[in-house]
Amino acid sequence: MAFDFIASALEKRRSEGLLRSRKTVDSASGPMIEIGGQHYINFSSNDYLAMRRSSVVMQAWVDGISEYGGGSGASPLVTGYTNAHQALEEYLATELKRDKVLLFNSGFAANQAVCQALFSQKHGEHQDLIIADKLMHASFVEGAKGSLAKLSRFKHNDLQHLQILLNSTDKHQAQNILVATEGVFSMDGDQAPLSEMVTMSQRSGAWLMVDDAHGFGMLGEHGLGVVETHQLSQQQLPILMATFGKAIGTAGAFVAGSHDFIDYLINFAKHYVYSTAMPAAQAYATLMSLQAKQSNERRTILAERIELFKSLADKAGLPLMPSNSAIQPLLIGDAQKAISASEKLKTLGLWVTAIRYPTVPKHTDRLRITLTAAHDPRDIESLIDALQIVLLDNKKAVR
Ligand SMILES: Cc1ncc(COP(=O)(O)O)c(C=O)c1O
Repeated sequence: MAFDFIASALEKRRSEGLLRSRKTVDSASGPMIEIGGQHYINFSSNDYLAMRRSSVVMQAWVDGISEYGGGSGASPLVTGYTNAHQALEEYLATELKRDKVLLFNSGFAANQAVCQALFSQKHGEHQDLIIADKLMHASFVEGAKGSLAKLSRFKHNDLQHLQILLNSTDKHQAQNILVATEGVFSMDGDQAPLSEMVTMSQRSGAWLMVDDAHGFGMLGEHGLGVVETHQLSQQQLPILMATFGKAIGTAGAFVAGSHDFIDYLINFAKHYVYSTAMPAAQAYATLMSLQAKQSNERRTILAERIELFKSLADKAGLPLMPSNSAIQPLLIGDAQKAISASEKLKTLGLWVTAIRYPTVPKHTDRLRITLTAAHDPRDIESLIDALQIVLLDNKKAVR
């Protein structure tokens, strides 16, 4: 029968405890969400700075819609590119000290676009090469797999392994090599050793790309992400990609780089050329969020919440992973157990999503806890108490 793999693929996922389904959120306010008539403290949001419902962002959407309307009406090369898009691109280029910036509708589209545009041509008998961290996001990995480049992956943050792969490029005689990693890893919350990676890439004549989806808005005094914390010039980091749907509190993404590189994307990136432009109101709200002074205070509050969580979790004997970011995973190692822990936390009024294979490697199923500036210290204390009950077999609370 045609497409009969659909039913069997779903059944396989179900039997392995890996089937996904959606939960409808009815409302959200501060750190709380309402799902199915129940209220929970939400520890599964990437709205790290709680900007999504800030007065700045909400008012900017209203103002943007009254100025530009609901949608952009066309793709950017037709009539969808407005002065709101241009202002956002120019602001980012100036702040990040890049020649040029290009907006995308999503981070997924931006990563796919970079891979498609850079690696859709053959150069004689030599195959281009993408060398990516093993834990890179699916949007990049799938883009790389769908391109004409060969994809090699190095063990997570393992510089020795990266060097071995770079050395083997001599034999491979690849003309164009892209080394790719993330600023802050989406599922582990740790950071890439970027200073070393810059040196190694430059020594091999490779371009370095960073997906800073979880670092942008978060890291650095001005929230400019790894470019700010590592002082990375455009020459050291020729391709920077980041998203607006997390710390910035809107949606969409950008790619930043040289004049030629961005002009090349404008001409050859199909996800850009053949897609309706991001609504101008969204570009305007994003710019207002980026310029909002309150982000600074919120980064400070969030840093305090992260510190509190880590110190209480440590005292409680919870098995933390080496993350200093708002992403604090607790490794469970089994899909069913991760789901069961998440369900038990729900009964205690906490929403903590279980992340399972294939989103994370096999046997690294986990609770992905995300902290935000909307959390009160008491929310964090409740979380620690609940985690002890659920994960540490009812051990007495340490406080
Ligand atoms: C590291 C990383 N890159 C890219 C994306 C995709 O971004 P978007 O949600 O804007 O499509 C995500 C989203 O979760 C991500 O975590």
